[in-house]
Parts: sequence; structure tokens; C-alpha cells
Amino acid sequence: MKVIKNASQMQKIALKHIRDGDEIGLVPTMGALHEGHISLIAKSVKNDDITIVSIFINPVQFGPNEDYLKYPRPAKKDKEICKKNHVDYVFMPSVNDMLPADHKTFVEVKTLQDILCGSFRINHFRGVATVVAKLFNISCADRAYFGMKDFQQLRIIEKMGKDLNFKTKIIPCSIVRERNGLALSSRNSYLSAEGKKRSLNISKTLKEAVEDFKRKDLNFVRKTVVNKLKKIPGSEIDYTEIVNFDDLSPADKNTKKAVFAVAVWIGKIRLIDNIVMIKDKGR
Ligand code: PAF
Repeated sequence: MKVIKNASQMQKIALKHIRDGDEIGLVPTMGALHEGHISLIAKSVKNDDITIVSIFINPVQFGPNEDYLKYPRPAKKDKEICKKNHVDYVFMPSVNDMLPADHKTFVEVKTLQDILCGSFRINHFRGVATVVAKLFNISCADRAYFGMKDFQQLRIIEKMGKDLNFKTKIIPCSIVRERNGLALSSRNSYLSAEGKKRSLNISKTLKEAVEDFKRKDLNFVRKTVVNKLKKIPGSEIDYTEIVNFDDLSPADKNTKKAVFAVAVWIGKIRLIDNIVMIKDKGR
């Protein structure tokens, strides 16, 4: 496994692999790797000749009052995890290399970037789309692996890839959860033992909504979730939305496959989670 710290060097290496007929898989991350990332890496190692894991804490996707500076940076452990999981290249560029002071180009995915998390985290998805576009170009990836935990991010990247004719195929990967239901996230490390216990109610509530969605109307499903989330001590809801699975448009009574997406604060920690819901046949 090689660690590459420079974007043009990474691109040269990737282009050489393409010339040699290799297919490249990219797993874009911000580090603090956990089992969720490992499941993406495993898919790439299985599907692709070459697996590149990028580790870049992207400053332009953090708001001014967000956790950019305190975001976990366990670089040594991350490299060990990559090595153990048969990654070929870890791409760890500096901020200056990826976003030099004279960087002027940004990618926006209109509408999709402004709903759900986008209405609370202004410019977040513009930052994500910009850096992911760069990573696609640098890695020359044939496939890129994204977790469904960040469902809105996944749909935004798919739309960007289609609109801008990227050759990179986006591979959606299921959410990995702890046995108790908590969706894995690098930010879970911020949770105290008590906070973690409280946050388990989020996934539990969403799981119960899946059953309600099969038979009950949308209003009931949504209200039930809101009431349950409000009961979690120290919780504050940013949003609870039921959207169409394919395009994140608001669900209605004809929606057969939806995603219930939520963002909830547990004390000072903001958690997002979502679950896919499917109507009973005949309804
Ligand atoms: O999901 C993440 O970790 C980040 O948003 C990503 C896709 C690596 C872009 O910085």
C-alpha cells in the first residue's frame, strides 16, 4: 500500500493504471475510519483492480460554527486499517494542495443541495460536490462507493455525476449499524455514554416507522416519529422528512418507496439517520 500526498502525483499514478487496463475504485472519506468505511473498501477490493481510499477533511463543507477543527484525525490508525483491508493507495492531500488560496471553481447541484441538511448547513453540499468532483478527476475512478447513511449526499453526487458526464459509476452501499441499531458515523466518537444511550432511540423510532408506513397515512407516520423523537431527553429536531427514494422530492399518498430522513441534536451533537420504507403490496 502506498500513501500519496499530492494530487498531481495521484492522478499520474491513476492514469498509468488506466493505460494498463486496470479498473479503479475510489472510497472517498474524511478519515476516522469505522466498519461502515471498511464495508465500502471491501466492495471496492472485490470489484476493482485498484482501490484508492481518499482521506481529506474538506474545510469547504464545514460551516463557520461547525466541527472542522475538532473533527477526529487518527491518521496512523486509518492507514493501518487501509493496509489491513488491502487498499492499494491512500490519498491524503493537504488542504493547500486540494484547495489552494486561488481556488475559484465550485460545483452546485441546485435544489437538491438546499433541502433537508442543506437548509441547515448552508454551502455544505456545494463543498462536498466540489471536492468529490476533484477526487473523481484525480483518481480517474471507474466506480466510487458511498454509504446510504448520507442519503442526500449520495443522491447529490449521483446527480452531479450524471449532469457533468463523469465516467465514475456511483455504487450506493447499505448503512452499517451497531448491533443496537446506531448508524456508524465518525462523529459518534463525540457521544458520551449517556448521549449514545439516548441516540439509540433515533434508529429504534425509524425502524418502527417502517411498519407504520406499510399501512398508515404519511401524516400519522411523521407525527408518530416527531412525538417519539421529542421525548428523547435533551433532543432537538432539525428536520423529520419523508421523501421519495429516487429523487428526494416530498413523498405523497402515491409514494411506494420512501426514505424517512431525520437530523436530531442530542445535546450538542447533531446526528443524522434515515431508513427506507416500502408500502405493502396493493396499497
Ligand atoms: O461523506 C464524507 O465523508 C464526505 O462528505 C466526502 C464524501 C468524503 C466528501 O468530503
